[in-house]
Amino acid sequence: MTALYGVIGDPIEHSLSPLIHRGWMRDYNVDADYLAMQVPAGNLEDALETLALRGCKGANITLPHKEDAFRLSNRLSETARRIGAVNTLMRSTDNVWAGDNTDAPGFRHALGHAFEAVGTKPFSTPKAEYALVLGAGGASRAVAYVFGMEGQSAVFCNRTLDRAQSLVAIHDIAQRSREKGVADAQAVGIENLSDELRVCSYMVNATSLGHAGKSIDWPEGRGRLAYDLSYGKAADAFLGPAQEAGWRVVDGLRMLVAQAAVSFEIWFGRAPDIDKGFERAARALEGVA
Ligand code: ATR
Repeated sequence: MTALYGVIGDPIEHSLSPLIHRGWMRDYNVDADYLAMQVPAGNLEDALETLALRGCKGANITLPHKEDAFRLSNRLSETARRIGAVNTLMRSTDNVWAGDNTDAPGFRHALGHAFEAVGTKPFSTPKAEYALVLGAGGASRAVAYVFGMEGQSAVFCNRTLDRAQSLVAIHDIAQRSREKGVADAQAVGIENLSDELRVCSYMVNATSLGHAGKSIDWPEGRGRLAYDLSYGKAADAFLGPAQEAGWRVVDGLRMLVAQAAVSFEIWFGRAPDIDKGFERAARALEGVA
């Protein structure tokens, strides 16, 4: 019987996940289907019950359900527990939902790839060098976790300061778990943004500014990396002015594909070809741009 998988979110109609996963399912002759399922906020529990009854074996979880999925998981990976959010569910052999977070390894892969492309490595900066993370919504929690695990010092800058402070806590706990003990983390308000942009080694945008067609005031980039977790038009809006100011810009499309690849491996036990998935996603995006 063809097994059922899918992505749950709202909105979901523009999700590239079905295209990415179905492509790999074809590549590796996996007898499964992958659907996009629109589920409004607050309805995840009912949706998961229905899916379990229909024999669903796994699901990706996106906005606005990642924290609810964390709460509803019967079992959690260590990564999901530390981040406090679940983006991948797997129906276990004893019929409960096991929750994981593949945004973290997806970000780690994609940032590494971005730095390779410019001929350097991330996570190897001396203590005095900082990554600047702008924004403190759901997506930035995986970033804080990865930076903590990798011993990358970071400044978390957000309009609402206490949300940035919660990222410092994730960073510090992740860091202590690895006993690296060398990386700093600080939280600052948005009024410090232009100062921090001037001195950081590279920056990661985790705000939704690009979705509103907005960007920020960029100082001289001097070839530094500006990495946006979003992709498509939102990333173009945010990163366009950065590129004009001399930043090297990379969007989050590879992160999307890389987090999907880790989910695919959790479900089917084989690591799919990320480059192939990326090419298909990029082509689909060009088609709608
Ligand atoms: P997600 O979970 O996708 O990251 P979110 O939780 O809505 O989405 O977070 C959006 C992020 O963009 C937040 O960091 C938000 O800042 P606040 O925490 O202060 O709300 C940030 N953001 C959105 N619009 C912004 C704006 N006009 N100026 C500065 N930051 C903004």
